[in-house]
Amino acid sequence: MSILIAYGSRHGSTGGIAERIAERLREGGLDAEAMTVKSARDVADYDAVILGSALYMFHWMKEARSFAAQNRRVLNLKPVWLFSSGPIEMKLDELGRGPLEVSGPREIDELRETLHPRDHQVFFGAWSREYKPIGFVERLAMAMPAARAAFPDNDLRDWPRIDAWADGIAVELKTASERAPSRPAPG
Ligand SMILES: Cc1cc2nc3c(=O)[nH]c(=O)nc-3n(C[C@H](O)[C@H](O)[C@H](O)COP(=O)(O)O)c2cc1C
Repeated sequence: MSILIAYGSRHGSTGGIAERIAERLREGGLDAEAMTVKSARDVADYDAVILGSALYMFHWMKEARSFAAQNRRVLNLKPVWLFSSGPIEMKLDELGRGPLEVSGPREIDELRETLHPRDHQVFFGAWSREYKPIGFVERLAMAMPAARAAFPDNDLRDWPRIDAWADGIAVELKTASERAPSRPAPG
């Protein structure tokens, strides 16, 4: 059984999560590979797809949204899981809601409607002041001291939680393939 973990990532931390999920699935006896949404091969070649994106300004990256839209028909025929990676701080908002609840993606309802995922998880992300700013908003943010403070050097990626999620997917896929009727022998 082959699984694609396709991801959108600007600075690489979401790629790290995708690679970790792939590694975990391989350890669970499945054939899994992580690829950026831009370099992913035809999704029809896989038995299941895990699609993820970094969050920027409460949204998935455009390339991940396009990937979802372009492949929706094929994805509808397969088991699909989604993940988002973003929050780089633990603070609650004024209503007492945690960052995993409020960080996005704003298009999650649409993604659920079009892709019918089995699950969607938001994972904590990572940020480094060493990153070279990409795009206007990042350049602006990094040029303003007050805004810079909002982007602390932090790697909050929660590996035990990510591993547990990947292990759950491996169990689900293996159970399904064991239950599937075996093909009659040729001849
Ligand atoms: C300009 C900017 C906007 C961001 N917006 C969000 C956001 O809306 N929600 C969120 O959870 N994280 C947000 N983040 C944090 C990133 O999602 C986090 O750093 C993520 O791990 C980056 O992933 P990448 O390294 O794969 O690009 C933002 C970061 C920057 C620099």
